[in-house]
Amino acid sequence: MSKLKIGVFGAYRGMSMIHVLLEHPDATLVAVCDKYAPALEKAGAAAKEAGLSIALYESFDDFLGHDMDAVVLANYANEHAPFAVKLLKSGRHVLSEVLPCETPAQAVELIEAVEESGKVYAYAENYCYMDHTFEMWRRYEKGEIGEVMYAEGEYIHDCAGIWPSITYGERDHWRNNMYPTFYCTHSFGPIMTITQKRPVRVTGFITNRNATVPPLGLKMGDCAGIEMVTLENGAIVKSVHGHLKREPGSINYEVYGMKGSMESQRFMPSYTPEGQEAEIQVYKEGKKVCEGANERYVPGKVVENSLAHKYATHGGADFYPTHFFIEKILGRPDGEHYSIDVYAAVDMGLVGILAYRSCLNHNQPMEIPNLRNKEERDLWRNDNACTNPAVAGENLLPCHPDGNIEYEDEVFEKVRNMWLEGK
Ligand SMILES: NC(=O)c1ccc[n+]([C@@H]2O[C@H](COP(=O)([O-])OP(=O)(O)OC[C@H]3O[C@@H](n4cnc5c(N)ncnc54)[C@H](O)[C@@H]3O)[C@@H](O)[C@H]2O)c1
Repeated sequence: MSKLKIGVFGAYRGMSMIHVLLEHPDATLVAVCDKYAPALEKAGAAAKEAGLSIALYESFDDFLGHDMDAVVLANYANEHAPFAVKLLKSGRHVLSEVLPCETPAQAVELIEAVEESGKVYAYAENYCYMDHTFEMWRRYEKGEIGEVMYAEGEYIHDCAGIWPSITYGERDHWRNNMYPTFYCTHSFGPIMTITQKRPVRVTGFITNRNATVPPLGLKMGDCAGIEMVTLENGAIVKSVHGHLKREPGSINYEVYGMKGSMESQRFMPSYTPEGQEAEIQVYKEGKKVCEGANERYVPGKVVENSLAHKYATHGGADFYPTHFFIEKILGRPDGEHYSIDVYAAVDMGLVGILAYRSCLNHNQPMEIPNLRNKEERDLWRNDNACTNPAVAGENLLPCHPDGNIEYEDEVFEKVRNMWLEGK
């Protein structure tokens, strides 16, 4: 069997997928696109070191013409859907980094492009495949703790220290223009894959802003977003993410079922540069009420593959999204089962989009449409309200309900210099 030919669009975060593709037994990297020449050169050098000669493109339109079966989207987080639609229409399978879409209108367009093309769309929400969250997913599906009643997902990452290296001092970088509940799928996503329950209602909240953080260009200010979500069976989820003070950051999940519970170890980092692995705790009630057994252990790898061990960044997660995408294209059961499809991706993304509508509307709960149903789509098909002027047109939203924090050019120049100086 010849290997799948895969291209990568965006060579920062995309390097993670590039490394997996360079060694994957069933796929090969054929092209990379990035308008930033140093990132592109780095991708080319990595391929060369692996003995591969790949095509390098600065323009997406040129990249689109390359002979490839599938593309990984690791471009700007708010621009995945329009590029995914173009690629699906050109007959390519798509693996999309987070987030799936910027607006409800894009959610509808993306779903319809997947349905019309018949191609595989997979969502690379890697936090669903961390050693601890993936273990919880597999144990939940065996029915070990019963049906979910309550869950929490937490992605606390104070990015102030790395802001120069992730926004480069660009005023219009998506990270400067997002709103507090946008980046919700690291905290909410794993609860959805573990429980396989659809979100039906969301109420959004935003913390106060931390005015002690020096100005770095973030228009919403330093704060955290919270989504209180009702799942289809009535269970409640608290999802929290953003800039709160905790080092190392917190990537924690807990799921309470009708027969027990599972949670990650709060006071142990879920991953460190040294590769420390996170424990989980599982409680299962026995025959007698309120009596049961606790287990506490470090989960192992699922695919006992040397690549899963090698590309184990982000808590062991970074191999799986690409791997299951390839498996799904090849029609293998693991890929069918564990790859996150477009409907689940959109469910996860809509939680943050509609939580923000809730925040703008005095925390009124918002119903989350089930866009699997064609008859629910028309209501959202033209809804382009968001914080991106290029997409929203007249429906531009502020980045925070209290209004945007505006910054002088000097702030962005300072941040740019910090980035260039490697600070
Ligand atoms: N899942 C994770 O753990 C994780 C971690 C980091 C980033 N991400 C995601 O990865 C994506 C990229 O983030 P990032 O950290 O790499 O930073 P980024 O968004 O600044 O980088 C995106 C890269 O894509 C390139 N790019 C964007 N639009 C382009 C275009 N039209 N033509 C050519 N090149 C273009 C940029 O030059 C840049 O190098 C985002 O979706 C982000 O959410 C995910």
